[in-house]
Amino acid sequence: MSDLSSLLAEVGRTAALPFEQAQTLPSGAYTDPEFTALEVEKLFRHDWVCVGRLDEIPEPGDYISHRIAETPVVVVRQADGSLKALVNACRHRASELLHGVGHVAKIVCPYHAWSYDLTGSLKMAPFMGDAFDKSGICLPELAFDLWEGWIYVTLDSTIAPISERLATLSARIADYRTSEQVMVYRAEEVWACNWKSLAENFTESYHLFSSHKNTLQPFTPTQGVWCEPGDDGWDIHWMDTSRLQDPVWPDLTEATRATFPLMHAFPSHVFSASLNRGFWMSLQPQGPDHVRVLWGVTIARPAIPQDPAALAALKAEIKETFDGINQEDRTIVESISRSLKSEHIQPGRLGEKERTIWEFQRFLARALGAPAPAAAVAAE
Ligand code: FES
Ligand SMILES: [Fe+2]
Repeated sequence: MSDLSSLLAEVGRTAALPFEQAQTLPSGAYTDPEFTALEVEKLFRHDWVCVGRLDEIPEPGDYISHRIAETPVVVVRQADGSLKALVNACRHRASELLHGVGHVAKIVCPYHAWSYDLTGSLKMAPFMGDAFDKSGICLPELAFDLWEGWIYVTLDSTIAPISERLATLSARIADYRTSEQVMVYRAEEVWACNWKSLAENFTESYHLFSSHKNTLQPFTPTQGVWCEPGDDGWDIHWMDTSRLQDPVWPDLTEATRATFPLMHAFPSHVFSASLNRGFWMSLQPQGPDHVRVLWGVTIARPAIPQDPAALAALKAEIKETFDGINQEDRTIVESISRSLKSEHIQPGRLGEKERTIWEFQRFLARALGAPAPAAAVAAE
């Protein structure tokens, strides 16, 4: 058995444990480059990646760029209001074309100024001469999918829409009208930890009373955190909040305002449905011990201030607040990444407020093709 095969067998054995005996994955799942390469292949080149929200690109020419594994991608609002997802690399010599989130009338390469219309068709190629035939040269299209206002892109156009596997989640969180959230802040960072450590950290709120005792615990105490069973494509946990969320819609009950869910849309999108501060991350591995973190904060549309100065102040407050909370998490998850490299680390037991981690393990085992325990024994 290769090292990767035995690691996969161990992941399969761990994921197959009943929840009452759940434990952490073997440390190799967080440190082994071959395991990460398999994750990139199965979970990132052949699954869906969240790139942002529809409300970020309302007008023709608005775009969101990102990178999925090695491929630069861009989602562009078309003249007719539809969307296209395109490979964001020039058809000349592959310079990346658009950066960040923004607006363009046409897509112009920064290198030699070849320019494309919003559909990705090449329109101008300066100094290439009359013999150069531009017709038929265009940026390759990619598949995208929409769910509750989120935009997902995949490099594999053959896979089933992510919205199908999240349909059961829509029903569970309908009260929170996630599709009516608006992005108010986004950032991209690289943290020195395995991408799964950060996903797991986001989806368990057991740690609030300790890691966030002065920031989150006063408002969303660990005591009011509970997990519910998820589904094959997602997990969920809930938290009570001592500070009622704004009554942004008249039909919101007090019970809805007093709680909200945090979810993981497998493989790599984690988010909350808080009406006043919807926190989200889209994660990608950069080797076993680094993660590219695209993150942001959304707010229910009726709670967005109309006054520009008030909105700017709100964005500044959100940045400061979430930079602080993220730093509390980052200190911990980066320390985990350092520890897991030691041969003295053994799997640890998971508690009832970490059911989400166990469900994520079961997704990983399925998606990575980890053998079920009986099959693993037969292969040894
Ligand atoms: S690489 Fe884009 S114009 Fe040359
Ligand atoms: Fe945290």
